[in-house]
Amino acid sequence: MPASRRGSGSFTLLTGQTIAIHTRTQDEEDLPHATKKTMADHLRKYESLFTLTPQRMRMIVEAFTETLELGLNKPNQIVPMIPTFVFGWPTGQEKGDFLALDLGGTNLRVCLVTLQGDGKFEISQTKYRLTEEQKQEDGQKLFDFCAECLNTFVETNTGEGEGQLKPGQSLPLGFTFSYPCSQERIDHGELIRWTKGFGAGNTEGRDVAEMFKQSLEKFQLPIKLTALINDTTGTLIASHYVNPKTKIAVIFGTGCNAAYMEHVKDIAKMEHLGIDPGADMAINCEWGAFDSFEHEHLPRTKYDIIVDDTSNKPGEQAFEKLISGRYLGEILRLVLCELIDEGVLFLGQNTYKLEKPYCFDTAFLSLMESDPTDELLMIIGIFTHFFALETTLAERQFFRALAKLIGRRAARLSSCGIAAIVSKMGYLEEGCSVGADGSLYNKYPGFADRVHEGLQDIFGDKGRNIVTYHAEDGSGVGSAIIAAMTKHRKDAGLYVNV
Ligand code: BGC
Repeated sequence: MPASRRGSGSFTLLTGQTIAIHTRTQDEEDLPHATKKTMADHLRKYESLFTLTPQRMRMIVEAFTETLELGLNKPNQIVPMIPTFVFGWPTGQEKGDFLALDLGGTNLRVCLVTLQGDGKFEISQTKYRLTEEQKQEDGQKLFDFCAECLNTFVETNTGEGEGQLKPGQSLPLGFTFSYPCSQERIDHGELIRWTKGFGAGNTEGRDVAEMFKQSLEKFQLPIKLTALINDTTGTLIASHYVNPKTKIAVIFGTGCNAAYMEHVKDIAKMEHLGIDPGADMAINCEWGAFDSFEHEHLPRTKYDIIVDDTSNKPGEQAFEKLISGRYLGEILRLVLCELIDEGVLFLGQNTYKLEKPYCFDTAFLSLMESDPTDELLMIIGIFTHFFALETTLAERQFFRALAKLIGRRAARLSSCGIAAIVSKMGYLEEGCSVGADGSLYNKYPGFADRVHEGLQDIFGDKGRNIVTYHAEDGSGVGSAIIAAMTKHRKDAGLYVNV
């Protein structure tokens, strides 16, 4: 019996696009479709490929913990465990006006942050979309664009009113540059490699803080670059500013990464710098690189291998490629393409739209998982609107189950990373809060619950002591707090300039 298709309407995607759902009268058995049984058989196969057992997770955590130690002991490791020169926690009393520039994976954001003390702040901000071309063209041009946006922001926000920049007011700037950079001091950072699909030329191996300063000079802006920070470090500090129980920060967005506070005495590779061993310093783990090149520990399916081989950086960011928002949609698309090639899905229909790499947005996975209708109308909408494909209920149930497998694997692997830091730092007994941010964490239904479930699979009941929560805006507020902390250290003659 054909499924009834009552209820036409429209849905708005997380991306802002609206998709219309049309009521159809046509019998869905008109086209040759896979039977319910075929789809169930296939699902079983993918279940075994994408499911992580607690035992396997514990093995990953063990290898991960060793990798973190290695990165702290020796320079230039695959997981580089980058010392950030952010010393200790904020007091919560940091105050003043700061600019923050955030070059993330998708957007460029400029913020004016007013820190009011007592963990309070105000923020006004403007977002600029980055084009694919800008991500690939010459790096200096990219920084020129950043400076131009900053210039526009300063011009539009200068005035005599409340929360505005005063004419000629010189401001410290925290620059959140969310790519792996090795730092010798807080206002320096040599780009180790681009991630998240960026490939701007003449930038890897260079000091991006210096490049950005050159761009700033072109606009003669009254701005001083005070700190170059990673989004995870910003998130760590911003989250601690408002919730002092926070010990770890994680980002699950276009990319994925974590930061935490380490004892300087336990960072063996920094010993020669003679920094007070009693001090603490935030470490930007750059854990997205875990298991890169060697691929010894992570369970990669053939779809993950294709994603890796066809990326602009084969071999790199192995952990990130199984988890982050940039890749999950592509993994699902590759499974669908395999089933098309095997003649299981969409027989007699034109599938060219679905065959385009990266056309299947990770937002579709979250929409598919959260479709509230029995008929899975949202999934009908996605497939008809974006790919001009007809689907049966059995197929849609299969797509939803597949999205769940891929989303759940990403969340469980994320718990392995968190568990590795928890084990390394001995936080399990006393427990800790983990500030988390990024589109996957914030928008993917059940992601946080699955991370928590994963932590319990790894640690048993004690896993409940580790709680993630939606973090404060690290790239804006965090960056401003770090700029304030740095200014304070400099004023007190404590600036570490090595
Ligand atoms: C970058 C990190 C960043 C993470 C989240 C990764 O691709 O290497 O520096 O923290 O994405 O934005």
